Amino acid sequence: MRALTKKGNQLLKTCITLLSFSQMASSKKQFYPAADRNKQPILDILKDHISLSDKRKCLEISSGSGQHVSFFAPHFPNVRFYPSEESRFLFDSINEHVKSDGLGNVEQARYIDASSPPETWYDGKLQKETLDYVYNCNMIHLVPFSTTEGKQKSSPLYI
Ligand SMILES: C[S@@+](CC[C@H](N)C(=O)[O-])C[C@H]1O[C@@H](n2cnc3c(N)ncnc32)[C@H](O)[C@@H]1O
Repeated sequence: MRALTKKGNQLLKTCITLLSFSQMASSKKQFYPAADRNKQPILDILKDHISLSDKRKCLEISSGSGQHVSFFAPHFPNVRFYPSEESRFLFDSINEHVKSDGLGNVEQARYIDASSPPETWYDGKLQKETLDYVYNCNMIHLVPFSTTEGKQKSSPLYI
């Protein structure tokens, strides 16, 4: 009886492990360790610069996995966030983070290549001078200088 219970426990452990692996494999969420490490210190700084009461709009360039926007959004319920990415395969991860956290103030992820003409940004759905903030983290050291130039030139059109 004791031996059976031991075997049963082992079988149960194996099933639970297999279940967690299959859940991890089916989730579209990506997790970047760096984003987890730096999200709190960044949030502390954002709170000094983003209004906590007035209605605001914030475009995020290079949202990556979506960890940042989904972590920040609940702290600024007055702000509507517009995540974006140049790598389309990350849209699912961004949207999944937002969905599973139940966030109502974050739009669906859209395409922005920061080096491209600003009229094409966010599928051409951004209107000029309608944003309050453009947030971009951990991108400029990884991309050609034209991308940083594009971002610097385009952002003022929307703010
Ligand atoms: C290191 S990740 C940073 C992601 C996120 N901001 C974070 O801090 O966790 C750099 C991101 O820049 C994006 N990226 C690369 N070239 C880009 C471009 N031309 N325009 C916009 N994003 C770009 C990549 O797809 C990648 O997701």
